[in-house]
Amino acid sequence: MDIFEEINLKGYAEEYIDPTLDLFDEIEKLKKEKNAVILAHYYQDADIQDIADYIGDSLGLSQQAAKTDADIIVFAGVHFMAETAKILSPTKKVLLPDAKAGCSLADSCPPHLFKKFKEQYPDHLVITYVNCTAELKALSDIVCTSSNAIQIVESLPPEQKIIFGPDKNLGAYVAKKTGRDLVLWNGACMVHEIFSREKITKLKERHPDAKLLAHPECEDVILEMADYIGSTTGILKYATKSDAKEFIVATEPGIIHQMEKDNPAKVFIPAPPNNNCACNDCPHMKRNTLEKLYLCLKNELPEIEVPEDIIVRAVKPIERMLEISAKLGL
Ligand code: 13P
Ligand code: SF4
Repeated sequence: MDIFEEINLKGYAEEYIDPTLDLFDEIEKLKKEKNAVILAHYYQDADIQDIADYIGDSLGLSQQAAKTDADIIVFAGVHFMAETAKILSPTKKVLLPDAKAGCSLADSCPPHLFKKFKEQYPDHLVITYVNCTAELKALSDIVCTSSNAIQIVESLPPEQKIIFGPDKNLGAYVAKKTGRDLVLWNGACMVHEIFSREKITKLKERHPDAKLLAHPECEDVILEMADYIGSTTGILKYATKSDAKEFIVATEPGIIHQMEKDNPAKVFIPAPPNNNCACNDCPHMKRNTLEKLYLCLKNELPEIEVPEDIIVRAVKPIERMLEISAKLGL
């Protein structure tokens, strides 16, 4: 089996790595040699966050991808994020350590079905959450992230009818906050849907001063208990500014690495899920490892490709989002 077949099958190609190698040093060397930049999402492993040139939420990562002058972008995140980077920087080589790092939310909205759904509402404008495929973005008018969804909806005239997809939880939250009647696609994230209201209530009884911080991809029953709702960057900033000493974190627990680094004297408790798993790790985000990141930079594979016609259509709604965000100073 050659390297391309192996990537097709497994998402990455295995290769012997000398155990005496310091992967942090090797990655640094390769980065300089190849003029590469590593962009990492907060849900990545601590090691990956520590070697990254930029760590951020989806909006911050898109902004970085649009402005980098590196020749190679290594995207330590999931497939839709690397695709977004490729759409914004089509002349650059975009690498994803594991090509099978997908997203349950993006998968919950197949473009051919969304196209039919959209056809039922011909006078509606389509806002899609960035957690979707490039093909879906190409069917959209404006893209948004969890840190600008409310402002993007508010930037449109009140009489404008809107379809919002694919996340029904974020959509319902935005509809509630803006008072707008959004037509929602019925999609959700497997990680944010499994927090347990009962277990969080018990946890709050044991930690009465703890603030509950929740991502808007969580269900309404969790959001209505939260002291703060926001994107991963929003959650991190809130925890840093707050005088509270304890926080219950209702999002993927990878963010806790950065929260602890920035706030060594504060305590962060992952919100418990409604199953018996110890934590809410995103299985897609966690497919990337430091070893796969090293091999992907060394071999410049797996590379993310997006068809030219999709890039041409998908770049407009993403740029529209970036323009609105820049105007609002987000
Ligand atoms: P943000 O980092 O933009 O809040 O997104 C969270 C998420 O689920 C990414 O997959
Ligand atoms: Fe997708 Fe949810 Fe994982 Fe984010 S946390 S990448 S939305 S499955």
